[in-house]
Amino acid sequence: MATQLFEGKEHASYYQKFRFEPSQEIIDLLFSYVDERLHKPYGFAVDVGCGTGQNTRILSQYVKKVLGTDISEAQIEEAKKATGSPNVTYSACPAEEVPVGDSSVDLLTACTSAHWFNIEKFLKEVDRVLKPGGCLAIFTYFANIGIHYKDRSEQMTQVFAEVAKILAPYQHQKFNLMRTEYKEIYETIPYPDKRSIENFGTKIRVPLSSLMGFFPTSSAFQIYLRKEPEKAKEMLRTAEERFLRIMGTSSTETEVEVWHQNLLLLASKPRRSIDLEN
Ligand SMILES: C[S@@+](CC[C@H](N)C(=O)[O-])C[C@H]1O[C@@H](n2cnc3c(N)ncnc32)[C@H](O)[C@@H]1O
Repeated sequence: MATQLFEGKEHASYYQKFRFEPSQEIIDLLFSYVDERLHKPYGFAVDVGCGTGQNTRILSQYVKKVLGTDISEAQIEEAKKATGSPNVTYSACPAEEVPVGDSSVDLLTACTSAHWFNIEKFLKEVDRVLKPGGCLAIFTYFANIGIHYKDRSEQMTQVFAEVAKILAPYQHQKFNLMRTEYKEIYETIPYPDKRSIENFGTKIRVPLSSLMGFFPTSSAFQIYLRKEPEKAKEMLRTAEERFLRIMGTSSTETEVEVWHQNLLLLASKPRRSIDLEN
């Protein structure tokens, strides 16, 4: 049975406003792999588990046509409201059943979503929809996030880690198994042309208000909020006060740097005729 923790309308609305986009370094790594395997212009990409479309909209700058899909109707509704790109469409459906024809997709991506899928079924579906030579990119960042601000990074990261510790009991088991799950996903990808790029760091600059908005985008925070609404809100208030005190400012518009550790899995479906010749 599918794990569905992103169904609430309010959650989806937060998600659209505050979820971080994938960093440019990841997009560059992804397209340098694709560039070596496919001819430009790229025709059709599908972004599965697209949430409210953060990665989908970026892909639309590189590919003629993009479809974002997600199992959550609420996430797709918010994605549709946010899109400004005429070459993007969305569909609410599981990653294991993508509503496109056989061998029709040049690039299929899953950004911070594959750990929620039934991997065996998903990879079968990937093989059905990818064109020969088509590419698969699965990527995520991990929970050990660093918060950097002047010479106060250690204290800032400590506050972030304490919030993460409070939320840990509310994390779904799949989230806690992320590192091992992605290793298993990599091993299960049936294509010989595959690559795993691990533990590379990326940084984004955001105002403190966006960092505070990021916490409620997580499924764990939403579960905590449902079970202990006052404690969840108080935790956010306290964390914001502590961040501001450490930074020595009263403005939540002051920028901080968020450092992520990432993983990117890349693979390309064999071009059977070429493989046979080899
Ligand atoms: C952490 S969010 C990532 C969303 C987006 N890709 C991003 O980077 O912000 C995970 C998303 O996967 C979706 N999801 C979970 N299981 C799914 C499945 N079996 N098929 C499609 N989407 C799924 C959830 O609804 C949620 O929107």
